Amino acid sequence: MTDNLELSHQQQRAFQPQKLSAPRNFMIPAVVANRPLPMVLEIGAGKGKHALSFARQSPDKHLIAIERTRNKFDAFTKLAEQQKLSNLSAIHADAIAWIVHAIAPNSIERIFILYPNPEQHNPNQQWLNMPFFEFLLSRLQVGGEVILATNIEAYIDNAERQANEVWRLPNTRHQVASDSQRTHFEVKYLARGETCWQLTLRKPEGYKTRFDN
Ligand SMILES: C[S@@+](CC[C@H](N)C(=O)[O-])C[C@H]1O[C@@H](n2cnc3c(N)ncnc32)[C@H](O)[C@@H]1O
Repeated sequence: MTDNLELSHQQQRAFQPQKLSAPRNFMIPAVVANRPLPMVLEIGAGKGKHALSFARQSPDKHLIAIERTRNKFDAFTKLAEQQKLSNLSAIHADAIAWIVHAIAPNSIERIFILYPNPEQHNPNQQWLNMPFFEFLLSRLQVGGEVILATNIEAYIDNAERQANEVWRLPNTRHQVASDSQRTHFEVKYLARGETCWQLTLRKPEGYKTRFDN
């Protein structure tokens, strides 16, 4: 990585993880501490449609799926308990505080952020605009990916610009297939005939953040 690349996001206001208390009833699942399988994160899992099918189809990965809204999380855990998937941890928490307290640097293979809240009136809450995104990148392994999907064109345009100009991450953008059914929101948007986009970001060798240690 060039000095320019490091400077680009390191000129931004730094995230302050020390200011965040652990979520209520916080505990780290044994699998996060022991890491018997490569770990994958999902942020804002909703009712868990994607989390459940990903865990079923990828028995060689452990998925930690985080959702903060109580009623969605309850629907998710009900199904997760019925399906007894030992490679899925469903977490009811704010993902930012939970990740800060539970996840070690350089430990996650892939991060899914599927149809995040659009935050059109509060763009500083969009994931790639947040200082927290640098912390999140520190948790990703080299070669690891962040997969972001949205139906909001302005959201994906901004995310792509931030990926190139601030985070300087190699990335690819594509349109989600019209028959894709990964999440409840994806099903809803595609059924309405809307276009959905996906941006895949990759953490390259030598990438540095202020939270690597
Ligand atoms: C638009 S919904 C999409 C849900 C699901 N991914 C889908 O596509 O069907 C966005 C979800 O992200 C959750 N969420 C937003 N910010 C979060 C955070 N900081 N931590 C955990 N969940 C969050 C919300 O509660 C909501 O359920």
